[in-house]
Amino acid sequence: MATAATVHGQEEHEQIGKAAGPCVMVLFGASGDLTKRKLVPALYNLVKAKLLPKNFAVVGVAFDDLSREQFRDQVTGFLQPEDRGTEAWEWFTQRLYYQRGEFADPATYSTLAAQLAGVDREHGTQANYLFYLATAPKFFATIVQQLGKAELSSQKDGCWRRVVIEKPFGHDLDSAKALNRDVKAVLAENQIYRIDHYLGKETVQNIMVFRFDNAIFEPIWNRRYIDHVQITNAETVGVELRGGYFDTAGTLRDMVPNHIMQLLSLTAMEPPVSFQADAVRNEQAKILRAVQPLDSEDVLHSSVRGQYGEGVIAGERVAAYRTEPGVAPESKTETFLALKLNIDNWRWAGVPFYIRTGKRLAQRHTEITIQFKRTPFEIFRNSPVHKHSNQLVMQIQPVEGISLSFGAKVPGPVLRVGSVDMSFEYTKYFGADAYTGYEVLIYECMIGDATLFQRADMVEAGWSIVDPILDVWQALPPRRFPNYPSGTWGPADSDELLARDGRQWRKIEP
Ligand code: BG6
Repeated sequence: MATAATVHGQEEHEQIGKAAGPCVMVLFGASGDLTKRKLVPALYNLVKAKLLPKNFAVVGVAFDDLSREQFRDQVTGFLQPEDRGTEAWEWFTQRLYYQRGEFADPATYSTLAAQLAGVDREHGTQANYLFYLATAPKFFATIVQQLGKAELSSQKDGCWRRVVIEKPFGHDLDSAKALNRDVKAVLAENQIYRIDHYLGKETVQNIMVFRFDNAIFEPIWNRRYIDHVQITNAETVGVELRGGYFDTAGTLRDMVPNHIMQLLSLTAMEPPVSFQADAVRNEQAKILRAVQPLDSEDVLHSSVRGQYGEGVIAGERVAAYRTEPGVAPESKTETFLALKLNIDNWRWAGVPFYIRTGKRLAQRHTEITIQFKRTPFEIFRNSPVHKHSNQLVMQIQPVEGISLSFGAKVPGPVLRVGSVDMSFEYTKYFGADAYTGYEVLIYECMIGDATLFQRADMVEAGWSIVDPILDVWQALPPRRFPNYPSGTWGPADSDELLARDGRQWRKIEP
């Protein structure tokens, strides 16, 4: 991963990093939602940060019949009004090209090859191509195969060719393996960039810096001092306009093998020997393989699923999942889950990792809580003690920061213990972050650094954890859906999962 200078205290945070080398970004799915919401704004932020090369161009590929002018207008429409008409906008839009085409049609790729040769001549992009597959997953293998047939994927005469593949990468272990086989038949592993946008989040990357650039935490980051770990990923949004996709996927597939496993692996992995892509990814893959597989009995005891009914979020009444557009009226798809996982290695044996994630919950909030053990002997047990415990909370979003809670004496003549916090918030130190999270991922891909991308074995390890749960859930459809009102923290069984172990979810204050 590209590293930047350390920022001390409140010193000004300067953008550090060299512009990437000459290349063309070929955007499959150029009219789609991801391009609009994330990719174009991220590219534009890279333009402003001067991290794109002078020799750069974008070729959009989609089904729509658009001229180059119309495509430029469309892209301009994806930018904030204040960004339009600026010098950076001028620079960016002069480098935009478009090609209409069906993804399965070989003619699309022969025309694309000719168009790219022209772009290389005009912009000096040296035949370095970054193909970004921002399409429906059913096209991933097809596009890669066609790129291979058109010889657009072969790296000869010193040029590079890389392919970014969006999620979902497969819908279970077998399909993920099949997709890996298909893409690896055309591309070498170091040409494949499987994206997980959670790795683009500052706070997620910061887990590594926090753990591996501070010597004080590592000695206590293990079963001797940690009681358990909680990962909460809560959304207030429902399925919005993605009901058609979501109803065939569900929360388990949508969130766990990818985003949640990134959070778990960065929290639990061993220190890598370096910050090189494979050193980091070896450790992530190793920890994912150490997650204890759940057998059918475990699935029944260690997993909870839920589906939202109607309810109230931020004072507004919201509809039940089953009445959302694109969702079957009797749908059995889960929109919430809670899991208890164990990791079979020396560091974590006996330390459960509790995970919960869901839609239409009480608050938008993602965090990882490290719950430390209590003191071996409680000398203040006879004083009026406010229940407190040592928790380290890594807050991922929307608040970004880290806090550590501990007990302190409440001032006064009577000995009382209260719970206090030491906390760090990103915005206070570094100001608000205007980035989408895709900037770093696009940039790293251009400079050929795959640290923040998933390797084939990591994706398969993630699915291996999820597959047995999918099997049991499919065999035993839920009996009581919907089972939580929108605007709550999920079904009561989720609290019960921890209560059985004498624990509880950290209370997330509004
Ligand atoms: C996506 C899922 O990958 O991540 C969505 O498909 C989910 O269902 C989203 O809402 C969450 O991302 P973020 O960045 O908003 O936490």
